[in-house]
Amino acid sequence: MIMNHLPFLTIDPATRSVSLDGRDPAFYSDPNRAYAALHAACPTFYWQEQKLWFFTGYDRVNSLLRDRRFGRQILHIATREELGMPEPAAHTRHFDAAEAHSLLELEPPEHTRLRTLVNRAFVSRHVERMKPEIEDLANRLIDGFEKDGKVELLSAFADIIPVTMIARMIGIPEEMGPQLLKWSHDYVGMYMFKRSRADEDAADRSAKEFADYVRGMIADRRANPREDLLSHMIHTEHKGQLLTEDELISTTIVLLNAGHEATVHQIGNSVRVILESGLDPAAMFQDETATSRTVEETLRICAPVHIFDRYCLEPAEIDGIAFKRGDKVGMILAAANLDPLKFADPLRFKPERDEAPNLSFGAGIHFCIGAPLARLELNIVLPLLFKRLPGLKLAGQPKVKDVYHFHGLERLDLSW
Ligand code: HEM
Repeated sequence: MIMNHLPFLTIDPATRSVSLDGRDPAFYSDPNRAYAALHAACPTFYWQEQKLWFFTGYDRVNSLLRDRRFGRQILHIATREELGMPEPAAHTRHFDAAEAHSLLELEPPEHTRLRTLVNRAFVSRHVERMKPEIEDLANRLIDGFEKDGKVELLSAFADIIPVTMIARMIGIPEEMGPQLLKWSHDYVGMYMFKRSRADEDAADRSAKEFADYVRGMIADRRANPREDLLSHMIHTEHKGQLLTEDELISTTIVLLNAGHEATVHQIGNSVRVILESGLDPAAMFQDETATSRTVEETLRICAPVHIFDRYCLEPAEIDGIAFKRGDKVGMILAAANLDPLKFADPLRFKPERDEAPNLSFGAGIHFCIGAPLARLELNIVLPLLFKRLPGLKLAGQPKVKDVYHFHGLERLDLSW
Protein backbone atom coordinates (compact mmCIF):
# COMPACT_ATOMS: atom_id res chain seq x y z
CA MET A 1 0.00 0.00 0.00
CA ILE A 2 1.20 3.49 -0.75
CA MET A 3 0.49 6.27 1.73
CA ASN A 4 0.19 9.59 -0.04
CA HIS A 5 0.48 12.92 1.74
CA LEU A 6 -3.15 12.70 2.95
CA PRO A 7 -3.33 10.59 6.12
CA PHE A 8 -6.97 9.60 5.54
CA LEU A 9 -6.36 8.20 2.03
CA THR A 10 -4.51 5.01 1.12
CA ILE A 11 -4.00 4.21 -2.55
CA ASP A 12 -2.51 1.08 -4.07
CA PRO A 13 -1.99 1.98 -7.75
CA ALA A 14 -0.99 -1.59 -8.67
CA THR A 15 -4.41 -3.00 -7.77
CA ARG A 16 -6.26 0.35 -8.03
CA SER A 17 -7.54 -0.27 -4.53
CA VAL A 18 -8.33 2.70 -2.29
CA SER A 19 -9.18 3.02 1.39
CA LEU A 20 -11.02 6.22 2.30
CA ASP A 21 -13.45 6.89 5.14
CA GLY A 22 -16.31 9.07 3.86
CA ARG A 23 -17.16 10.05 7.46
CA ASP A 24 -13.67 11.40 8.26
CA PRO A 25 -13.97 15.19 8.67
CA ALA A 26 -10.47 15.60 7.23
CA PHE A 27 -11.84 14.13 4.00
CA TYR A 28 -15.37 15.51 3.69
CA SER A 29 -14.34 19.03 4.81
CA ASP A 30 -12.15 19.33 1.73
CA PRO A 31 -12.67 16.36 -0.62
CA ASN A 32 -10.98 18.12 -3.54
CA ARG A 33 -7.49 17.30 -2.20
CA ALA A 34 -8.37 13.60 -2.15
CA TYR A 35 -9.82 13.82 -5.67
CA ALA A 36 -6.58 15.44 -6.92
CA ALA A 37 -4.55 12.59 -5.35
CA LEU A 38 -6.86 10.04 -7.00
CA HIS A 39 -6.50 11.71 -10.39
CA ALA A 40 -2.71 11.56 -10.01
CA ALA A 41 -2.56 7.90 -8.91
CA CYS A 42 -5.62 6.07 -10.22
CA PRO A 43 -8.72 7.89 -11.48
CA THR A 44 -10.56 4.55 -11.67
CA PHE A 45 -10.41 2.74 -8.34
CA TYR A 46 -11.97 0.13 -6.12
CA TRP A 47 -13.25 1.87 -2.97
CA GLN A 48 -12.81 -0.72 -0.24
CA GLU A 49 -15.25 0.82 2.26
CA GLN A 50 -17.99 1.15 -0.39
CA LYS A 51 -17.15 -2.18 -2.04
CA LEU A 52 -17.62 -0.67 -5.49
CA TRP A 53 -15.61 0.53 -8.45
CA PHE A 54 -15.60 4.31 -8.83
CA PHE A 55 -14.76 6.55 -11.76
CA THR A 56 -13.43 10.10 -11.56
CA GLY A 57 -12.03 10.80 -15.06
CA TYR A 58 -14.05 13.49 -16.85
CA ASP A 59 -14.38 11.64 -20.17
CA ARG A 60 -15.07 8.37 -18.39
CA VAL A 61 -17.83 9.80 -16.17
CA ASN A 62 -19.32 11.77 -19.05
CA SER A 63 -19.52 8.67 -21.25
CA LEU A 64 -20.78 6.39 -18.43
CA LEU A 65 -23.65 8.80 -17.73
CA ARG A 66 -24.66 8.44 -21.39
CA ASP A 67 -23.95 4.71 -21.69
CA ARG A 68 -27.21 2.80 -22.14
CA ARG A 69 -25.58 -0.39 -20.85
CA PHE A 70 -25.84 1.27 -17.43
CA GLY A 71 -29.03 2.49 -15.78
CA ARG A 72 -30.38 3.99 -12.57
CA GLN A 73 -32.79 1.04 -12.34
CA ILE A 74 -32.47 -2.64 -13.04
CA LEU A 75 -35.75 -4.14 -11.86
CA HIS A 76 -37.30 -3.45 -15.30
CA ILE A 77 -35.09 -6.19 -16.78
CA ALA A 78 -34.42 -8.58 -13.86
CA THR A 79 -36.20 -9.85 -10.77
CA ARG A 80 -35.05 -9.31 -7.20
CA GLU A 81 -34.61 -13.06 -6.91
CA GLU A 82 -32.27 -13.22 -9.93
CA LEU A 83 -30.22 -10.36 -8.55
CA GLY A 84 -30.16 -11.62 -4.97
CA MET A 85 -31.78 -8.38 -3.80
CA PRO A 86 -33.81 -8.40 -0.58
CA GLU A 87 -37.58 -7.85 -0.80
CA PRO A 88 -38.63 -4.24 -0.10
CA ALA A 89 -39.06 -3.60 3.64
CA ALA A 90 -42.60 -3.09 4.95
CA HIS A 91 -41.59 -0.10 7.05
CA THR A 92 -40.51 1.89 3.96
CA ARG A 93 -43.54 1.10 1.77
CA HIS A 94 -44.77 4.71 1.51
CA PHE A 95 -41.29 5.89 0.59
CA ASP A 96 -41.00 3.09 -1.99
CA ALA A 97 -44.41 3.99 -3.43
CA ALA A 98 -43.34 7.62 -3.86
CA GLU A 99 -40.09 6.50 -5.51
CA ALA A 100 -41.82 3.98 -7.79
CA HIS A 101 -42.61 6.60 -10.43
CA SER A 102 -39.74 8.98 -9.74
CA LEU A 103 -37.92 10.11 -12.88
CA LEU A 104 -34.71 9.31 -11.08
CA GLU A 105 -35.71 5.69 -10.56
CA LEU A 106 -36.95 4.87 -14.07
CA GLU A 107 -35.31 3.76 -17.28
CA PRO A 108 -36.65 3.81 -20.87
CA PRO A 109 -39.29 3.32 -22.12
CA GLU A 110 -41.04 4.41 -18.86
CA HIS A 111 -38.53 7.19 -18.25
CA THR A 112 -38.86 8.61 -21.78
CA ARG A 113 -42.66 8.83 -21.53
CA LEU A 114 -42.65 10.43 -18.09
CA ARG A 115 -39.77 12.82 -18.81
CA THR A 116 -41.41 13.99 -22.07
CA LEU A 117 -44.62 14.74 -20.22
CA VAL A 118 -42.89 16.50 -17.33
CA ASN A 119 -40.61 18.42 -19.69
CA ARG A 120 -43.60 19.81 -21.54
CA ALA A 121 -44.83 21.30 -18.31
CA PHE A 122 -41.34 22.25 -17.13
CA VAL A 123 -40.50 24.31 -20.22
CA SER A 124 -38.08 27.22 -19.98
CA ARG A 125 -40.80 29.85 -20.31
CA HIS A 126 -42.18 28.70 -16.97
CA VAL A 127 -38.73 28.92 -15.45
CA GLU A 128 -37.86 32.33 -16.97
CA ARG A 129 -41.13 33.70 -15.65
CA MET A 130 -39.74 33.19 -12.12
CA LYS A 131 -36.94 35.76 -12.64
CA PRO A 132 -38.64 38.83 -11.11
CA GLU A 133 -40.04 36.70 -8.29
CA ILE A 134 -36.60 35.33 -7.35
CA GLU A 135 -35.18 38.87 -7.40
CA ASP A 136 -38.04 40.18 -5.30
CA LEU A 137 -37.79 37.42 -2.69
CA ALA A 138 -33.97 37.71 -2.45
CA ASN A 139 -34.26 41.50 -2.03
CA ARG A 140 -36.92 41.16 0.68
CA LEU A 141 -34.81 38.67 2.61
CA ILE A 142 -31.74 40.93 2.40
CA ASP A 143 -33.91 43.89 3.56
CA GLY A 144 -34.66 41.83 6.66
CA PHE A 145 -31.03 41.47 7.80
CA GLU A 146 -29.08 44.25 5.99
CA LYS A 147 -29.09 46.60 9.00
CA ASP A 148 -27.76 43.88 11.35
CA GLY A 149 -24.30 43.88 9.75
CA LYS A 150 -24.24 40.08 10.11
CA VAL A 151 -26.22 37.02 9.13
CA GLU A 152 -26.22 33.24 9.17
CA LEU A 153 -26.81 32.97 5.44
CA LEU A 154 -28.21 29.45 5.19
CA SER A 155 -31.18 29.83 7.55
CA ALA A 156 -31.94 33.47 6.69
CA PHE A 157 -31.53 33.24 2.91
CA ALA A 158 -30.32 30.07 1.18
CA ASP A 159 -32.84 27.72 2.84
CA ILE A 160 -35.80 29.85 1.86
CA ILE A 161 -35.30 30.71 -1.81
CA PRO A 162 -35.23 27.31 -3.59
CA VAL A 163 -38.17 25.80 -1.68
CA THR A 164 -40.30 28.93 -2.08
CA MET A 165 -39.62 29.07 -5.81
CA ILE A 166 -40.27 25.42 -6.61
CA ALA A 167 -43.39 25.43 -4.39
CA ARG A 168 -44.70 28.52 -6.20
CA MET A 169 -43.92 27.00 -9.56
CA ILE A 170 -45.78 23.81 -8.69
CA GLY A 171 -48.62 25.81 -7.15
CA ILE A 172 -48.25 24.88 -3.46
CA PRO A 173 -49.20 27.70 -1.07
CA GLU A 174 -46.24 29.61 0.35
CA GLU A 175 -47.17 29.00 3.99
CA MET A 176 -46.45 25.29 3.39
CA GLY A 177 -42.71 26.19 3.05
CA PRO A 178 -41.57 25.04 6.54
CA GLN A 179 -43.65 21.84 6.29
CA LEU A 180 -42.21 21.07 2.84
CA LEU A 181 -38.69 21.61 4.17
CA LYS A 182 -39.34 19.12 6.97
CA TRP A 183 -40.87 16.48 4.68
CA SER A 184 -38.10 16.90 2.17
CA HIS A 185 -35.36 16.80 4.79
CA ASP A 186 -36.74 13.55 6.28
CA TYR A 187 -37.22 12.08 2.80
CA VAL A 188 -33.66 12.66 1.58
CA GLY A 189 -32.42 10.95 4.79
CA MET A 190 -32.94 7.74 2.79
CA TYR A 191 -30.16 8.74 0.39
CA MET A 192 -27.45 9.06 3.05
CA PHE A 193 -24.41 6.77 3.02
CA LYS A 194 -25.24 5.49 6.50
CA ARG A 195 -28.79 5.72 7.76
CA SER A 196 -30.53 4.38 10.86
CA ARG A 197 -33.92 2.71 11.33
CA ALA A 198 -35.11 6.04 12.82
CA ASP A 199 -34.07 7.82 9.57
CA GLU A 200 -36.04 5.24 7.55
CA ASP A 201 -39.14 5.61 9.74
CA ALA A 202 -38.99 9.40 9.45
CA ALA A 203 -38.59 9.18 5.65
CA ASP A 204 -41.55 6.82 5.36
CA ARG A 205 -43.82 8.93 7.58
CA SER A 206 -42.95 12.05 5.63
CA ALA A 207 -43.46 10.27 2.28
CA LYS A 208 -46.98 9.29 3.38
CA GLU A 209 -47.92 12.75 4.66
CA PHE A 210 -46.39 14.40 1.59
CA ALA A 211 -48.24 12.04 -0.82
CA ASP A 212 -51.57 12.57 1.00
CA TYR A 213 -51.11 16.32 0.79
CA VAL A 214 -50.27 16.22 -2.94
CA ARG A 215 -53.28 13.94 -3.59
CA GLY A 216 -55.53 16.61 -2.10
CA MET A 217 -53.89 19.30 -4.24
CA ILE A 218 -54.38 17.22 -7.38
CA ALA A 219 -58.11 16.82 -6.66
CA ASP A 220 -58.36 20.57 -6.23
CA ARG A 221 -56.52 21.38 -9.49
CA ARG A 222 -58.58 18.87 -11.46
CA ALA A 223 -61.65 20.83 -10.39
CA ASN A 224 -60.05 24.30 -10.57
CA PRO A 225 -57.07 24.36 -12.96
CA ARG A 226 -54.67 27.27 -12.50
CA GLU A 227 -51.61 28.65 -14.26
CA ASP A 228 -49.24 26.41 -12.30
CA LEU A 229 -47.01 23.40 -12.95
CA LEU A 230 -49.33 20.94 -11.21
CA SER A 231 -52.31 21.95 -13.39
CA HIS A 232 -50.05 21.71 -16.46
CA MET A 233 -48.81 18.28 -15.45
CA ILE A 234 -52.41 17.10 -14.90
CA HIS A 235 -53.53 18.28 -18.32
CA THR A 236 -50.40 17.74 -20.45
CA GLU A 237 -50.75 14.95 -22.98
CA HIS A 238 -48.17 13.02 -24.98
CA LYS A 239 -49.44 10.71 -27.75
CA GLY A 240 -52.84 10.72 -26.11
CA GLN A 241 -51.51 9.82 -22.67
CA LEU A 242 -51.78 11.73 -19.41
CA LEU A 243 -49.75 11.31 -16.21
CA THR A 244 -51.48 8.94 -13.77
CA GLU A 245 -52.28 10.05 -10.23
CA ASP A 246 -49.34 8.03 -8.80
CA GLU A 247 -46.99 9.52 -11.39
CA LEU A 248 -48.19 13.03 -10.57
CA ILE A 249 -47.57 12.42 -6.86
CA SER A 250 -44.08 10.95 -7.40
CA THR A 251 -43.11 13.72 -9.79
CA THR A 252 -44.26 16.50 -7.48
CA ILE A 253 -42.35 14.95 -4.58
CA VAL A 254 -39.18 14.40 -6.60
CA LEU A 255 -39.23 17.95 -8.00
CA LEU A 256 -39.40 19.31 -4.47
CA ASN A 257 -36.83 16.94 -3.00
CA ALA A 258 -34.29 16.54 -5.77
CA GLY A 259 -34.19 20.25 -6.20
CA HIS A 260 -34.06 22.36 -3.20
CA GLU A 261 -31.43 20.79 -0.94
CA ALA A 262 -28.77 20.83 -3.68
CA THR A 263 -29.54 24.45 -4.51
CA VAL A 264 -29.41 25.50 -0.82
CA HIS A 265 -25.98 23.87 -0.47
CA GLN A 266 -24.81 25.46 -3.68
CA ILE A 267 -25.72 29.00 -2.61
CA GLY A 268 -23.65 28.47 0.56
CA ASN A 269 -20.75 26.73 -1.21
CA SER A 270 -20.56 29.46 -3.87
CA VAL A 271 -20.55 32.37 -1.42
CA ARG A 272 -17.86 30.64 0.60
CA VAL A 273 -15.58 29.90 -2.36
CA ILE A 274 -15.95 33.44 -3.70
CA LEU A 275 -15.08 34.98 -0.32
CA GLU A 276 -12.18 32.61 0.29
CA SER A 277 -10.71 33.36 -3.15
CA GLY A 278 -9.92 36.95 -2.12
CA LEU A 279 -10.89 38.02 -5.67
CA ASP A 280 -13.05 41.07 -6.38
CA PRO A 281 -16.74 40.07 -6.58
CA ALA A 282 -17.53 43.26 -8.55
CA ALA A 283 -15.43 41.92 -11.44
CA MET A 284 -17.02 38.47 -11.19
CA PHE A 285 -20.50 39.93 -11.52
CA GLN A 286 -19.83 42.84 -13.88
CA ASP A 287 -22.23 41.53 -16.55
CA GLU A 288 -24.34 38.48 -17.39
CA THR A 289 -21.52 36.59 -19.11
CA ALA A 290 -19.09 37.11 -16.23
CA THR A 291 -21.83 36.14 -13.75
CA SER A 292 -22.69 32.98 -15.61
CA ARG A 293 -19.00 31.96 -15.85
CA THR A 294 -18.56 32.58 -12.12
CA VAL A 295 -21.64 30.47 -11.30
CA GLU A 296 -20.40 27.62 -13.52
CA GLU A 297 -16.95 27.80 -11.92
CA THR A 298 -18.45 27.49 -8.43
CA LEU A 299 -20.52 24.52 -9.65
CA ARG A 300 -17.32 22.98 -10.99
CA ILE A 301 -15.14 23.44 -7.94
CA CYS A 302 -17.63 22.90 -5.09
CA ALA A 303 -20.57 20.90 -6.46
CA PRO A 304 -23.33 20.14 -3.92
CA VAL A 305 -23.85 16.44 -4.78
CA HIS A 306 -20.75 14.36 -5.40
CA ILE A 307 -21.71 10.78 -6.15
CA PHE A 308 -24.24 9.06 -8.40
CA ASP A 309 -24.36 5.37 -9.20
CA ARG A 310 -25.64 3.09 -11.93
CA TYR A 311 -26.51 -0.57 -12.37
CA CYS A 312 -24.84 -2.51 -15.12
CA LEU A 313 -27.70 -3.70 -17.38
CA GLU A 314 -25.65 -5.89 -19.72
CA PRO A 315 -22.05 -7.12 -19.62
CA ALA A 316 -19.59 -4.29 -20.19
CA GLU A 317 -15.87 -3.68 -19.87
CA ILE A 318 -14.84 -0.23 -18.72
CA ASP A 319 -11.23 0.76 -18.18
CA GLY A 320 -10.19 -2.91 -18.10
CA ILE A 321 -12.81 -3.91 -15.52
CA ALA A 322 -15.47 -6.43 -16.48
CA PHE A 323 -18.95 -5.67 -15.13
CA LYS A 324 -21.83 -8.11 -15.24
CA ARG A 325 -25.54 -7.52 -15.14
CA GLY A 326 -26.60 -6.30 -11.69
CA ASP A 327 -23.17 -4.89 -10.68
CA LYS A 328 -23.14 -1.31 -9.48
CA VAL A 329 -20.64 1.40 -10.44
CA GLY A 330 -20.06 4.78 -8.82
CA MET A 331 -19.25 8.07 -10.49
CA ILE A 332 -17.82 11.04 -8.61
CA LEU A 333 -19.10 14.02 -10.59
CA ALA A 334 -17.33 16.51 -8.32
CA ALA A 335 -14.02 14.74 -9.00
CA ALA A 336 -14.64 14.61 -12.77
CA ASN A 337 -14.92 18.42 -12.56
CA LEU A 338 -11.30 18.48 -11.33
CA ASP A 339 -9.75 16.30 -14.02
CA PRO A 340 -6.37 17.87 -14.89
CA LEU A 341 -6.74 16.54 -18.44
CA LYS A 342 -9.73 18.85 -18.89
CA PHE A 343 -9.09 21.80 -16.59
CA ALA A 344 -5.79 23.65 -16.20
CA ASP A 345 -4.81 24.13 -12.54
CA PRO A 346 -8.05 22.37 -11.53
CA LEU A 347 -8.04 23.11 -7.79
CA ARG A 348 -7.88 26.85 -8.41
CA PHE A 349 -11.07 28.91 -8.50
CA LYS A 350 -10.86 30.95 -11.69
CA PRO A 351 -14.15 32.74 -12.28
CA GLU A 352 -13.24 33.65 -15.85
CA ARG A 353 -12.57 29.99 -16.72
CA ASP A 354 -14.14 28.86 -19.99
CA GLU A 355 -13.04 25.26 -20.55
CA ALA A 356 -15.26 22.15 -20.57
CA PRO A 357 -18.79 22.27 -19.10
CA ASN A 358 -18.94 21.00 -15.50
CA LEU A 359 -20.74 17.70 -14.86
CA SER A 360 -22.51 18.82 -11.68
CA PHE A 361 -25.97 18.43 -13.26
CA GLY A 362 -25.08 15.07 -14.81
CA ALA A 363 -25.41 14.16 -18.51
CA GLY A 364 -27.49 11.93 -20.76
CA ILE A 365 -31.11 10.97 -20.23
CA HIS A 366 -31.16 11.77 -16.48
CA PHE A 367 -29.56 15.22 -16.92
CA CYS A 368 -31.02 17.42 -14.17
CA ILE A 369 -34.45 18.63 -15.25
CA GLY A 370 -34.18 21.45 -12.69
CA ALA A 371 -30.84 22.77 -13.97
CA PRO A 372 -32.40 25.84 -15.69
CA LEU A 373 -34.17 26.79 -12.44
CA ALA A 374 -31.11 26.18 -10.22
CA ARG A 375 -28.90 28.15 -12.63
CA LEU A 376 -31.40 31.02 -12.80
CA GLU A 377 -31.55 31.21 -8.99
CA LEU A 378 -27.76 31.19 -8.64
CA ASN A 379 -27.27 33.77 -11.42
CA ILE A 380 -29.71 36.12 -9.68
CA VAL A 381 -29.02 35.70 -5.98
CA LEU A 382 -25.20 35.63 -5.98
CA PRO A 383 -24.64 39.01 -7.70
CA LEU A 384 -27.48 40.52 -5.67
CA LEU A 385 -25.93 39.48 -2.34
CA PHE A 386 -22.54 40.96 -3.21
CA LYS A 387 -24.08 44.14 -4.65
CA ARG A 388 -26.42 44.75 -1.72
CA LEU A 389 -23.84 43.93 0.98
CA PRO A 390 -20.52 45.53 -0.03
CA GLY A 391 -17.67 44.44 2.24
CA LEU A 392 -19.25 41.00 2.74
CA LYS A 393 -16.82 38.71 4.58
CA LEU A 394 -16.68 35.41 6.45
CA ALA A 395 -17.34 35.71 10.18
CA GLY A 396 -15.82 32.42 11.30
CA GLN A 397 -14.58 29.27 9.68
CA PRO A 398 -17.44 27.54 7.79
CA LYS A 399 -18.02 23.92 8.80
CA VAL A 400 -18.92 21.29 6.20
CA LYS A 401 -21.84 18.96 7.04
CA ASP A 402 -21.15 15.32 7.84
CA VAL A 403 -23.36 14.08 5.02
CA TYR A 404 -20.92 13.04 2.33
CA HIS A 405 -21.84 12.44 -0.56
CA PHE A 406 -23.69 15.76 -0.37
CA HIS A 407 -21.35 18.69 0.07
CA GLY A 408 -22.84 21.58 1.99
CA LEU A 409 -22.23 23.75 5.02
CA GLU A 410 -23.65 23.45 8.56
CA ARG A 411 -23.93 27.24 8.66
CA LEU A 412 -22.35 30.22 6.95
CA ASP A 413 -21.77 33.21 9.24
CA LEU A 414 -21.11 36.42 7.37
CA SER A 415 -20.62 40.07 8.28
CA TRP A 416 -20.22 43.38 6.39
C1 HEM B 1 -27.48 23.11 -7.91
C2 HEM B 1 -28.58 22.40 -7.89
C3 HEM B 1 -28.75 21.02 -8.47
C4 HEM B 1 -27.81 20.07 -8.77
C5 HEM B 1 -26.30 20.13 -8.61
C6 HEM B 1 -28.53 18.93 -9.32
C7 HEM B 1 -27.91 17.76 -9.79
C8 HEM B 1 -28.57 16.75 -10.45
C9 HEM B 1 -27.91 15.61 -11.06
C10 HEM B 1 -26.41 15.34 -11.08
C11 HEM B 1 -28.87 14.82 -11.64
C12 HEM B 1 -28.65 13.52 -12.45
C13 HEM B 1 -28.63 12.31 -11.56
C14 HEM B 1 -28.18 11.06 -12.30
O1 HEM B 1 -27.78 11.11 -13.46
O2 HEM B 1 -28.20 9.97 -11.69
C15 HEM B 1 -30.14 15.45 -11.36
C16 HEM B 1 -31.35 14.94 -11.76
C17 HEM B 1 -32.56 15.54 -11.42
N1 HEM B 1 -32.74 16.76 -10.81
FE1 HEM B 1 -31.31 18.03 -10.17
N2 HEM B 1 -29.87 19.21 -9.36
C18 HEM B 1 -30.05 20.47 -8.86
C19 HEM B 1 -31.23 21.17 -8.76
C20 HEM B 1 -32.45 20.66 -9.12
C21 HEM B 1 -33.71 21.38 -9.05
C22 HEM B 1 -33.88 22.84 -8.63
C23 HEM B 1 -34.70 20.48 -9.41
C24 HEM B 1 -36.19 20.65 -9.51
C25 HEM B 1 -36.79 21.73 -9.77
C26 HEM B 1 -34.05 19.22 -9.74
C27 HEM B 1 -34.71 18.09 -10.15
C28 HEM B 1 -34.09 16.98 -10.68
C29 HEM B 1 -34.83 15.84 -11.22
C30 HEM B 1 -36.34 15.65 -11.26
C31 HEM B 1 -33.86 14.94 -11.69
C32 HEM B 1 -34.11 13.58 -12.36
C33 HEM B 1 -34.13 13.74 -13.85
C34 HEM B 1 -34.24 12.41 -14.57
O3 HEM B 1 -33.89 11.38 -13.99
O4 HEM B 1 -34.68 12.41 -15.73
N3 HEM B 1 -32.70 19.37 -9.55
N4 HEM B 1 -29.93 16.62 -10.65
